[in-house]
Amino acid sequence: MSPDIPRVRAGECHVWFADAVHVPPLLELLDDRERARHDAFVRASDRALYLTAHALARQLVAAQLGVRPTEVRYVQECRHCDRPEPHGKPRVAGADLELSWSHSGGRVAVALSLAGPVGVDIEEVAGEGKVADLSAAVLSAVERTELERLPAAERARGFIRYWARKEAVLKATGDGLMVEPSLLTVSAPDAPAALLEWRERAEPHLPVRLHDLDAGDGYRAAVAVLGTRCPVARHEAGYGGDGTLRHPRRGVTTSARC
Ligand SMILES: CC(C)(COP(=O)(O)OP(=O)(O)OC[C@H]1O[C@@H](n2cnc3c(N)ncnc32)[C@H](O)[C@@H]1OP(=O)(O)O)[C@@H](O)C(=O)NCCC(=O)NCCS
Repeated sequence: MSPDIPRVRAGECHVWFADAVHVPPLLELLDDRERARHDAFVRASDRALYLTAHALARQLVAAQLGVRPTEVRYVQECRHCDRPEPHGKPRVAGADLELSWSHSGGRVAVALSLAGPVGVDIEEVAGEGKVADLSAAVLSAVERTELERLPAAERARGFIRYWARKEAVLKATGDGLMVEPSLLTVSAPDAPAALLEWRERAEPHLPVRLHDLDAGDGYRAAVAVLGTRCPVARHEAGYGGDGTLRHPRRGVTTSARC
């Protein structure tokens, strides 16, 4: 394993954040399907987000398994349909390592877990308009009431906090947005992260361990792990102009318990 990349031990979850970059050597780490998806993005910023998330995920997984990034294989399982093309929650083929990644604005997050299925979500803080547009579809009645209690200037950040927590849970279970986020109720934005209620939740019911993460200014992020309580380590990674993974930047690795 690269000496710079911490090992994820049994019962642990690690989350890496990075700024999105577009460094051509990273394209060589992707497989043909990933490269085709990358090429299909119209906006350069979307290509950078996709490339950074997929290259970083491959490098982190490869380091844990002791293989090259190009040797990492994923399988994707959809809980909601049997469409033949790969889609749904990604898993590492042939390993117990669980993973999830997310991209938003100019940042990416990659979570690896040996504690149980994991979902990570990063969201750029949006304006008041987005809150008004999405509140009814995303928030439960309890959450809408809590959000309205916040000072007006706090509501956009509060909404994004809710959104990141709920999407992290739905990514951990593999449901994604095929389950209406408004069926879930999570704790108020200024309270410690927790899943409080999930109406009409399908079996099996593993405990959901939810944790907020520091994703950088202008972003909110959360990670959900299904199963037993586990420590969560947070790291900041970055890329040099030649595609070298710099990891971690000193002084920003923190630990928390979920
Ligand atoms: C998964 C989902 C919640 C992600 O939302 P998002 O905010 O747009 O994207 P994020 O950046 O946070 O996460 C994207 C990653 O989630 C992962 N993902 C996709 N489906 C997932 C699922 N069902 N569960 C967990 N993770 C999933 C993928 O790795 C994806 O990365 P990629 O697009 O770079 O390959 C949303 O895209 C979704 O629900 N998709 C499924 C809808 C669907 O496909 N329905 C029809 C088929 S049944």
